[in-house]
Amino acid sequence: MRIAVIGTGYVGLTTGTCLAEMGHQVTCIDNDPEKLAKLRRNVSPIFEPGLQELITRNAGAGRLSFDDRIGPAVKDSEVIFICVNTPRKSDGHADLRYVEGVARQIAEHLCGEYKVIVDKCTVPVRTAEKVRQTILRYGADETRFDVVSNPEFLKEGTAVQDTMAPDRIVIGADTAPARLKMMEVYRPLVEKTGAPVKMVSVRSAELIKHGANTFLAAKISFANLIAHACEEAGADALEVLEAIGLDERIGGHFLCPGIGFGGSCFPKDIAAFGKTLETLGIDGMFVEAIEKINKQAIERFLRKIEKELWILDGKAIGVLGLAFKPCTDDIRNAPALKVIDRLKAEGAVISAYDPEAMENTRKAVPEIVYCADAYQVAAGAEALVVCTDWEEFKHLDLARVKNLMRTPIVFDGRNVFNPEEMRGLGFKYFGVGR
Ligand SMILES: NC(=O)c1ccc[n+]([C@@H]2O[C@H](COP(=O)([O-])OP(=O)(O)OC[C@H]3O[C@@H](n4cnc5c(N)ncnc54)[C@H](O)[C@@H]3O)[C@@H](O)[C@H]2O)c1
Repeated sequence: MRIAVIGTGYVGLTTGTCLAEMGHQVTCIDNDPEKLAKLRRNVSPIFEPGLQELITRNAGAGRLSFDDRIGPAVKDSEVIFICVNTPRKSDGHADLRYVEGVARQIAEHLCGEYKVIVDKCTVPVRTAEKVRQTILRYGADETRFDVVSNPEFLKEGTAVQDTMAPDRIVIGADTAPARLKMMEVYRPLVEKTGAPVKMVSVRSAELIKHGANTFLAAKISFANLIAHACEEAGADALEVLEAIGLDERIGGHFLCPGIGFGGSCFPKDIAAFGKTLETLGIDGMFVEAIEKINKQAIERFLRKIEKELWILDGKAIGVLGLAFKPCTDDIRNAPALKVIDRLKAEGAVISAYDPEAMENTRKAVPEIVYCADAYQVAAGAEALVVCTDWEEFKHLDLARVKNLMRTPIVFDGRNVFNPEEMRGLGFKYFGVGR
């Protein structure tokens, strides 16, 4: 099939590349000149395991190309995916201006055969109806297109794997031709992997995505609530949560205490869902509790640091991990940035290391020292603060780390290390809920 993907960020680039890998003819469009310059050289602008190889292979085979013009791709395609950003407005609502902008541009070029416009962005329920109205208002003929919702569930860090072998494919389509076209898009994947397809109404699909993200965020906040209780009561949150998670109705995934969730999705999606509830006349207390506990998690962690180190002014503090989670270079809303901000404000001298996210962080926070590895961060440090649970941190030579530090104090915001082992090695160690 001929497919256009508008917006070539974490979702659009992965989606477009994987659709090409399934055998479709894909044009990815973006209006960011810097991103496009890299893509035109078939270089991925983001770090995502396996993505570069797929781009090279599919662009090389002529199935994947990159452009900044929406017009020709829309005219030429049977299916058009919208994958633009839907950031958070200051009042918590989803900012849908990029979705609306793309809808208007699509309307200008919609001609010829019947086309399906696919909203892959995470958006409030009933956004597809607004996209449809916009396309009609700006000139398209209503018999020529349908708008469907096909929410994306990929996780940064395993985005390619999640797309090529998904848990489920959710398609929200209200007409038979749209359902057929979408089945055609995913047929190669479904035949290969047996991935279940949930064919639902457009409104249900939109709510499935907000519901799923809210539930995942709730699991993290629940884990942080238990961690808080464990700290106060003198219990171990990892023991408690592991046993809770063994109940198959609950499940252990994502029951991880730490310094809270960040990233480009959960904070904005939870807030937008809260606003959707408000619009629907429903009390948003569940969402508010998730957000409140998430804020408290990082606050408690920062207070631990401040209590132990007392005066931060002039203290050398090393930060391990900058990305909002491992296996990505994405630092949008990363808890590490909040930690750095606060420590900097108190006058701490910060050095940092992350396996992939240093380039992005350097642009956002140029005034700290960036190190070649964790040992360089440890050298002379009066404390280490772990903000991302990268696998490589789990394999550090901790005796060497300790010898390099000026005062061996570790604040482990992701419970990467074993408290007993750390104390045995002579560290003063602070985990979360342990
Ligand atoms: N990142 C994730 O893990 C993830 C997972 C599931 C769903 N989502 C959702 O998918 C959507 C996209 O997220 P993302 O992380 O890929 O965003 P992103 O910011 O990485 O990418 C969005 C891209 O759209 C481009 N763009 C914006 N307006 C455009 C226009 N008019 N024409 C062409 N290009 C345009 C931007 O330049 C950018 O490259 C959001 O709604 C997000 O909530 C994200």
